Amino acid sequence: MPSWSARLKSLLSADSILRFDEPMARRTTLRVGGPADCYVEPAGEEDLSAVVRFCAEHDVPWTAIGRGSNLLVRDGGVRGVVIGFNRPYFQEIAVEADHITARAGVKLKMVAVEARRHGLSGLEFMEGIPGSVGGSLRMNAGAMGSSLFDRARTVRFMEPSGEVRETPAAEIESRYRSCPFLKSRIALGAVFEGMPATPEDVAERMSAYSRKRWDSQPAAPSAGCMFTNPDSIPAGRLIDELGLKGLRVGGAVVSDVHGNFMVNEGGATARDVLELMERIQTEARDRRGVELEMEVQIIGEDPATS
Ligand code: EPU
Repeated sequence: MPSWSARLKSLLSADSILRFDEPMARRTTLRVGGPADCYVEPAGEEDLSAVVRFCAEHDVPWTAIGRGSNLLVRDGGVRGVVIGFNRPYFQEIAVEADHITARAGVKLKMVAVEARRHGLSGLEFMEGIPGSVGGSLRMNAGAMGSSLFDRARTVRFMEPSGEVRETPAAEIESRYRSCPFLKSRIALGAVFEGMPATPEDVAERMSAYSRKRWDSQPAAPSAGCMFTNPDSIPAGRLIDELGLKGLRVGGAVVSDVHGNFMVNEGGATARDVLELMERIQTEARDRRGVELEMEVQIIGEDPATS
């Protein structure tokens, strides 16, 4: 247990969760990775602010995570504090007229379902993205040609100092699968804008997206697309054309459903996944001159060698 653990615990309310040596594999959809020194689920923004202020004062690194669906944790685990958003406060979602306010821990699927229930279109693409609002803002997650920042009106976030702010989304720089602004800050939630429609129309679009996804993406544990799409060719098609589907390192395999998904067939380590990705990058570079950039976020350390 780190020497600072008792002091950090004393700063948090009873509704916050704090644990040590928390296995991260079970907090990621890829199901690989070592433990976090300390794992905290703050009860609310005040406790979250206390955690980041404590970390700043004591030089302890912190890492905020979402649902772990775009996350690769190295086998040696994560030093410092990992922050999760599963407490009830961070699950709050409210609909008013044409906008939906959702906190960091809300699943994107829930945003899509609420939009459907209230007859709001434009948010259907979120139905199949296995992320939370916070992680998906950080990644500017997307599907079916839309991304989160296309539909966000305002974004609420915490500065590394612990201060909470809210800013129009249009003033925040967002790119394809990235929001650099949120790299050093913590996304606390957003207001999303929908457009009036009938619940039936929204439901139809959601079903069509869902069918498309089930037809083209694997159901086995994965972190979604591992590489961003280069301008020249979708990464999945390139990996397919290179004949790399089925390529395996340990328990990690290139999906035979979609080339840009690496699935954990059981017992994979982070090392297996990283080696598989490196092999794919080498093949793409050597045979096609294409640099594949990682979409998946990599955190943590390799195991100590003794
Ligand atoms: N393709 C192949 N072989 C494959 C996979 C794809 O030939 O093994 C071809 C498809 O037939 C299609 C093209 O490549 O012509 C693009 O494939 P797809 O429509 O599946 O879309 P994608 O570009 O591979 C993107 C996002 C996904 C998102 C889907 C659906 C990226 C890196 N990926 O995939 O996002 O779900 O569109 O909108 O932008 C993610 O970011 O994690 C992710 C899964």
